[in-house]
Amino acid sequence: MRRKENQSSTFASCDFSYICFMNYIESLQKRYSVKKFDPSKRVPAETLRNILEAGKLSASSLGLQPYKILVIESEEMLRKLIPAFHNPSQISTCSHLIVIVSKKAVDGSYVDGYFRHISEVREIPVENLNLFRKNIESYTENNIEVHLWAEKQAYIVLGNLMFAAALEKVDTCPMEGFKAEILEEILGMDPEKEKVAVTLAIGYRSEEDHFQHMKKVRKPDEKLFKFL
Ligand SMILES: Cc1cc2nc3c(=O)[nH]c(=O)nc-3n(C[C@H](O)[C@H](O)[C@H](O)COP(=O)(O)O)c2cc1C
Repeated sequence: MRRKENQSSTFASCDFSYICFMNYIESLQKRYSVKKFDPSKRVPAETLRNILEAGKLSASSLGLQPYKILVIESEEMLRKLIPAFHNPSQISTCSHLIVIVSKKAVDGSYVDGYFRHISEVREIPVENLNLFRKNIESYTENNIEVHLWAEKQAYIVLGNLMFAAALEKVDTCPMEGFKAEILEEILGMDPEKEKVAVTLAIGYRSEEDHFQHMKKVRKPDEKLFKFL
C-alpha cells in the first residue's frame, strides 16, 4: 500500500515537472522581440513586481550587483525618451521600459555597503567577512575593466527579466539601439560613474506586429552544441 502511494506520488511529480518543462519551452518559443506593442494594454503592477523580483534574484559575480534597475512607468517619461531610441516603435507603444544601469567603477564605499548588508542580513559580525572582502578588493582593484565586467552582470539580469516575463505571458523587446548620451542625460545619470548597459521594453504585442508570425531562426543543434 505504502509502495503504491510512493509510486503514484513519483508519477505525479514526474508529470508535474514534465508539464512545467513543456510550459517554459513553449513560453520561450512564443517569446519574440516585439517591434510594436499594443499601447492600450498595461502590465499589471503585481505581474511587473514578479518580473522585477526575477531580475533581483539574478546571480552576479561576487554578489556585488554592480548595477541598478530603473523602471520607467510614467507616460510622460516614456514620451520624453522616444528621441533616445533609433527605432521609436517599441518605446512609443510599450507599457514600461526597464533600463539596466551598470557601474563604471566599484569603490571602497560601495564594497563597505555590501559588507554591512551581508552582515545585517546573515546576522554575522562584519569582521568574519574579512577574507571574502580581501578577495573582492584584489579582484576589483586588479580588474581594470570593471565597466565591462559590470555590464556582463547587467545582461544576466536582462536574461532573467525576459525569461520571467515570458512565463508571465508578458512580451518584451531587449534593446541596445539607443543613443546613450541622450538617454543618460534624460535619466539624469552621472556618465563618469555609470552607463546604460541595456534596456528592455515590456508590454503586450500588437496584433499588427507581423514579426510574431515569423519562424524562429536559430543555429541547428550540431552547430550550437558540442558534447564532450
Ligand atoms: C542585447 C540585445 C539587444 C537587442 N537590441 C535590439 C534593438 O535595439 N532593437 C530591436 O528591435 N531588437 C533588438 N534585439 C532583438 C534581437 O534582434 C532578437 O533577439 C534576435 O533577432 C532574435 O529574435 P527573437 O528575439 O525575436 O527570437 C536585441 C536583442 C538582444 C539580446
